[in-house]
Amino acid sequence: MNINNNMGALVLAAGKGTRMHSSLPKVLHTILGVPMLSLVINALKPIFPQHVRLVLGHQSDLVRETIKDNDCGIILQAEQLGTGHALRTAWPDLKAAGLEYVLVVNGDTPLLKTERLTWFIKHCLQAEADLAFMTLTLDDPASFGRVLRVKGKVAAVLEAKDYDAVLHGPEPKEINAGIYFLRMQSVEYLLDKLTRANKSNEYYITDLIALGAESGLNVIGLDQGRDDTLLGVNTPHELSRSEELLRSEIVTGWMQKGALIRNPYATRISPAAVLEPGCEICGPCEIYGASRIASGVVMESHIWANNVRIDSGTRVRAFSHLEDAHIGPNCTVGPFARLRPGSEMAENAHVGNFVEMKKTRLGVGSKANHLTYLGDAEIGAGVNIGAGTITCNYDGKHKHQTRIESGAFIGSNASLVAPVSIGENALVGAGSVITKDVPPESLAIAREKQKNLPRRPA
Ligand code: UD1
Ligand code: CA
Repeated sequence: MNINNNMGALVLAAGKGTRMHSSLPKVLHTILGVPMLSLVINALKPIFPQHVRLVLGHQSDLVRETIKDNDCGIILQAEQLGTGHALRTAWPDLKAAGLEYVLVVNGDTPLLKTERLTWFIKHCLQAEADLAFMTLTLDDPASFGRVLRVKGKVAAVLEAKDYDAVLHGPEPKEINAGIYFLRMQSVEYLLDKLTRANKSNEYYITDLIALGAESGLNVIGLDQGRDDTLLGVNTPHELSRSEELLRSEIVTGWMQKGALIRNPYATRISPAAVLEPGCEICGPCEIYGASRIASGVVMESHIWANNVRIDSGTRVRAFSHLEDAHIGPNCTVGPFARLRPGSEMAENAHVGNFVEMKKTRLGVGSKANHLTYLGDAEIGAGVNIGAGTITCNYDGKHKHQTRIESGAFIGSNASLVAPVSIGENALVGAGSVITKDVPPESLAIAREKQKNLPRRPA
């Protein structure tokens, strides 16, 4: 749909989220590793590339910092006096942008989909709505705003706290999803009519509905039936419900595209990750960030990966922990390997159990199979790193580089004190502490010579 510049989106995200019982603002709580607010923005951006505005308040600096790459307009609601107050605070900015319509969404509705929003907007425009909102029909209306209808027409939304069966009749099962379409010119004069005369002592955006209906505006509630992807998240329990929903949807989606996921119920994949058809995930397994798993990769169980690229033919064995790393084709990693940020493995390289790498490149066919730390190192092709090798990269103040040229062989339990380089085809004797560069094709032994003495009688 072609939405002109006369429509914008406003995300209400200033609240504290008291019911999360956490010091983190609610909208920064993550779902599969992505802050809820970013998920909402991602759903809106394809429709409103220029016009997504956020109302921020509680810990606004932290929220702003977290979503700084999203290029959204920010409006500050210094005191959070309710969703109606949030809208009122943003109004001058929306007007200054020359918008005719605005889509308002709660920032705690993380599973919103672009397609659904597009459908909603289209429907509202066609129906020439002045004010429209999405509703859901639930068995239990819980803490959501209840939709009151008279002869099928929306009359009001009553917040759970303010609902009184004696006054308002049998409890409706239709609730407000917190996604609104406003024709600004129609609604503007109602904003001043919002009051705090309710149990929460807040200005409610939802009061616009009764005000609009009373004034004869075209107010529409579009019932989406039972659709849990439109539920707001207020509590940790609701967060894990929404997270589970998205998790299952993502895993099912990749299986349908040809990934073999053997333990789908225990596999968690970020919405930004990509699995090529023909990869195999044995699970339990967590794949976060913008990870990319190529065809022919096998991930065994209990693997945690964030922002990793794993190329074709590589096998990651169980209990490996991988972050901001690139693993080339036909490599073997783990079991129990740890690749920290900046780790790179070229084709056919091997990293085995209890090996940690950080800001290190391991060349083609090179191997570090056991109990090793490789930090700030550049390692050529065909290198063998013996068990227990440590690059001593930190002198207490600064980090230093280690270079190991192609064909070198590092004996077991060697300490390479950086900055240091080991030349091509050089051999370092087991147990050596190497503090000086080793020339190519040479043998370096840096340890006390062995003495065999007669044993004292016991
Ligand atoms: C709101 C609706 C309710 C609806 C539900 C759907 C109101 C009064 N009620 O209730 O009818 O069923 O969403 O999920 O709107 N916020 C601000 N500034 C504020 C207060 C809140 O920006 O001063 C933001 C919050 O950060 C949040 C959103 O508005 O993202 C909704 O606020 P919340 O307190 O979660 O409203 P609910 O009680 O869930
Ligand atoms: Ca909410």
